[in-house]
Amino acid sequence: MAKIDVFDTTLRDGEQSAGVNLNLLEKMEIAYQLERLNVDIIEAGFPAASNGDLQSVKRIAEAVKGSSVTGLSRANQNDIDAAWEALKGSVEPRIHIFLATSPIHMTYKLKMTTDQVLETAVESVKYASEKFTHVQWSAEDACRSDKHFLVKIIKEVIDAGATVINLPDTVGYMSPEEYGALFRFIKENVPNINRVKLSAHCHNDLGMATSNTLKAIENGADQVEGTINAIGERAGNTGLEEIAVALHIREDIYRAKTGLKLDELKRTSNLVSKLTGMSVPGNKAVVGNNAFAHESGIHQDGVLKEKTTYEIISPELIGVQTNRLVLGKHSGRHAFRMRVKEMGFELTDQKLNDAFKMFKDLADKKKEISDEDLFAILMEKQTEA
Ligand code: KIV
Ligand code: ZN
Repeated sequence: MAKIDVFDTTLRDGEQSAGVNLNLLEKMEIAYQLERLNVDIIEAGFPAASNGDLQSVKRIAEAVKGSSVTGLSRANQNDIDAAWEALKGSVEPRIHIFLATSPIHMTYKLKMTTDQVLETAVESVKYASEKFTHVQWSAEDACRSDKHFLVKIIKEVIDAGATVINLPDTVGYMSPEEYGALFRFIKENVPNINRVKLSAHCHNDLGMATSNTLKAIENGADQVEGTINAIGERAGNTGLEEIAVALHIREDIYRAKTGLKLDELKRTSNLVSKLTGMSVPGNKAVVGNNAFAHESGIHQDGVLKEKTTYEIISPELIGVQTNRLVLGKHSGRHAFRMRVKEMGFELTDQKLNDAFKMFKDLADKKKEISDEDLFAILMEKQTEA
């Protein structure tokens, strides 16, 4: 079974979500929880972006020992020096350098030729590898880049000292088939590729980040990058909780696993949501509050007989105590009777029928029937002659 390294960028790409700003203590709290979750690498920030970011990366690099800590850097000496200042205290200093390789980015953003990009990439990786133990190099906008140029530049940066190569789908443009094919192409055409780890980094602009990342794994990715709760620039990044659980549940097809402690996922999700202020939609895969809630009578009946009828993930797997049978207008008698019993009421069959009818009438007017609603109905029936 292949072991996939998990590179968490909640504190960098995740913090780039519109409206999110974490202070030092909040970042430390999240970093400690990511360490408990057992992520391999924490991208703690972008040291050259601000003094605040530099200080947070430095504190996290000094405090966290169970995960490797890294920081983002553009391909220039100033940024690399700032990253060194922040990361030199970590056990094995690790830097993440990026430079765009697509015609759109090179022409309009960088205003550089391909030769200049190649030279800048090589020089920056050489400079960084004099200090850092691990140098990750990312071809920003790899998915809209010329793949023959990618082959050339990747070969050169590996010779210059890169230890991890990342192929980001910066704008969430590719389909799963295309992203998988890109990994295969790079594996087959870069002669020294086996000297490094190959990493996948996807954005969710077309809703394909999770599928794309899984396709990359099927095609040789050694590392996956993403965030908790799938937060990040624009439509966000790959949700690491989705990747880790998909690999676990569908081990039969992926034959790969992460080292994450899956039962820390829900706690991590709650913490990130609380500190970023980004609420998790109820129907979010794996960590949404409805992920283990059953509303319809048919589903509730099935789950009461055998959980696996409608649950492919057990709530305990991700650290949720139990599933929830929600009482709403689609709920059936079976779940209703069980809830009545749990609430300590013993009613005759006739009274139970009447209470069920009252509950259904109310459920037509309300989305969810709370315990207080139910209590009022049951008290009325119990006390009635
Ligand atoms: O999406 C992206 O291209 C990035 C890079 C900095 C790796 O986040
Ligand atoms: Zn990104």
